Amino acid sequence: MTAVTVRVPAKVNLQLSVGPRRDDGYHDLVNVFHAVSLFDEVTASVPVGVPPGAGPAVVSGTATVTVSVEGDSAGQVPLDGDNLAVRAALALAERAGRPVAVHLAVRKAIPVAGGMAGGSADAAAALVACDELWGLRLDRRELLDIGAGLGSDVPFALFGGTAVGTGRGERLAPVPVGGEFHWVFALADGGLSTPAVYGECDRLRESTGEPVAWPRADEALMAALAAGDAKALGVALVNDLQPAALMLRPSLERTLAAGREHGALGALVSGSGPTCAFLAESPAHAADLAAALRDADVCRATVTAHGPVPGAEIVAG
Ligand code: C5P
Repeated sequence: MTAVTVRVPAKVNLQLSVGPRRDDGYHDLVNVFHAVSLFDEVTASVPVGVPPGAGPAVVSGTATVTVSVEGDSAGQVPLDGDNLAVRAALALAERAGRPVAVHLAVRKAIPVAGGMAGGSADAAAALVACDELWGLRLDRRELLDIGAGLGSDVPFALFGGTAVGTGRGERLAPVPVGGEFHWVFALADGGLSTPAVYGECDRLRESTGEPVAWPRADEALMAALAAGDAKALGVALVNDLQPAALMLRPSLERTLAAGREHGALGALVSGSGPTCAFLAESPAHAADLAAALRDADVCRATVTAHGPVPGAEIVAG
């Protein structure tokens, strides 16, 4: 086999409850992840010469990795050892027990630094693709462990569906969902840095001086998911990072307000932002809502998607 292609979804957080800051700088979370049908694709291949558009070869031990990126905002993605997919391939190469060389061709549809875990998704896809290319056949548990070492959201990109993440968000349990949900995502110009948004969240909390509650899964949200009840889910959506994201990007207030005015069942910043997520009643409602958001001129672009969808999976190779 010379090439393997893996498709991997974006996520939106249906509940992102952020606990106190830990000594290691992370925050304990209750993070209800939901995978949606907005996909990146990563093709891992045995390199022949220098692949077109590839960044510099990143060498670690006996592994050599290159990456190229095309698609939405590709220019903002690093092509060196900072690329999370490259780091994923290098982490997996340690399990190969022999010299390996791989080129990762990433096709991006998930917004870059958009709060939809696009970088984590590409890392998860690189793990699955290289595992297959190198014939390692690690079990999912091992891939989840390697993923957790790369970033808090990487395990969920492997897991898919709807799941509650605790700890840093990396300890996952599936959440039963009784239907399909329809979404509109309003993409913003430029990204937001996740550490900066968590830092702003800490700062806002310190300024109020209120004690930070230990996060707990929201029962109304879980019941709405189990029943497939979009109206109830819309009311229950919550993101503790939203005030911080709005502080750093005040224009998102207008984006959220426009979605609410045009009948969204729920509206929130996705993860650390700046993408905003709107829950719709149906695919037709999602299309109407997306058109209204574009007409209101409150975002760079809109995408409609549904969830839940599976995590990283091989589509060719
Ligand atoms: O794990 P990951 O590298 O994706 O996290 C990026 C940043 O987000 C961390 O450096 C930290 O600032 C913040 N973070 C956090 N608590 C979490 C997850 C992420 O503070 N549970």
